Amino acid sequence: MGEVDLLRALPKPKRNIEKRQEAKDPAVIAIAKQYGEMYWDGPREYGYGGYNYDGRWRPVARDIIEHFGLMAGARVLDVGCGKGFLVKDLMLECPGLEAFGLDVSLYAITHAPPELTGRLHLGTAEKLPFPDNSFDCVISLNTIHNFSRNGVIKVMKEIQRLSAGKAFVQVDSYYTQEQKEVFESWVLTADFYDYPDGWVAAFEEAGYTGDYFWTIIE
Ligand SMILES: C[S@@+](CC[C@H](N)C(=O)[O-])C[C@H]1O[C@@H](n2cnc3c(N)ncnc32)[C@H](O)[C@@H]1O
Repeated sequence: MGEVDLLRALPKPKRNIEKRQEAKDPAVIAIAKQYGEMYWDGPREYGYGGYNYDGRWRPVARDIIEHFGLMAGARVLDVGCGKGFLVKDLMLECPGLEAFGLDVSLYAITHAPPELTGRLHLGTAEKLPFPDNSFDCVISLNTIHNFSRNGVIKVMKEIQRLSAGKAFVQVDSYYTQEQKEVFESWVLTADFYDYPDGWVAAFEEAGYTGDYFWTIIE
């Protein structure tokens, strides 16, 4: 298990932290947590502010493929895949790769690129509907902070069960108090979050042996 920055090639998103913080109230948070149209394609205060395929995940897909030595025929699962853009880019970067996704958002799955039809599953990360060791690699990016700490442990056990540790999980975190405050101003849907040490402790408690890294919101 180790730290590796597999999202280093992802362009940094534009964030107006003050505007988000001003607009944030329990009603906005409740709508965001439905992960419906407002979260994906509504105003930025509710989530992504409009999320369309633009190929930004392609260099990340290349780094994931190289890091795990994935080849045609290998099976990859993206837990919390959203609209499936990384699933698409993994298959573009490695023809013959069998990439799949799972997400709790029906809206995201039904607004994915049409060629992904049948590859994206509706479900929750706490109970992944696949057999033990059924993937050559499982990834989950910026998703598991949406669970309580107990939920995080369950999800990490599930990822370990499917991947035998050939996995990569990226979570929101912070190194300083200042970064923590920025994160808390920005975040809409998070339940559990912590400094890297706190995350690593949760990963170890779950018996997770895969790789991981942090998204620092700035
Ligand atoms: C910040 S988005 C990240 C999406 C994508 N992985 C990315 O990095 O662009 C968080 C994702 O977690 C998904 N999500 C929230 N709760 C979930 C759950 N219980 N099971 C699976 N996915 C969940 C949301 O629908 C959303 O797609």
